Amino acid sequence: MPRVVILPVELVGEIGAGESLLDAGGNAGVEMEAGCFDCSCGTCAVAVVHGMENLLPPTLDELAVLAAWNRDPARYRLACCARVCQGDVTIRQLD
Ligand code: FES
Repeated sequence: MPRVVILPVELVGEIGAGESLLDAGGNAGVEMEAGCFDCSCGTCAVAVVHGMENLLPPTLDELAVLAAWNRDPARYRLACCARVCQGDVTIRQLD
């Protein structure tokens, strides 16, 4: 099962392929910042430290929200939208 390491708390959530980074946070017992749960508010943005290649590509909706928050999609993803396709990922919660 893919593992998602969540920084700075250094907890690990396991998820099935196709589940979101937000799901991983829930499985790890981490209270993740989130609002709409639907790729529209941007409050769930996280930095991807390792494993960006293990996430499905962002949708046009996610890209639009990241752009509105001036977040480079090569470094940031929305935890409610970003889904793991394979392998492990490390993310960092934002302040
Ligand atoms: S919770 Fe609103 S974009 Fe993720």
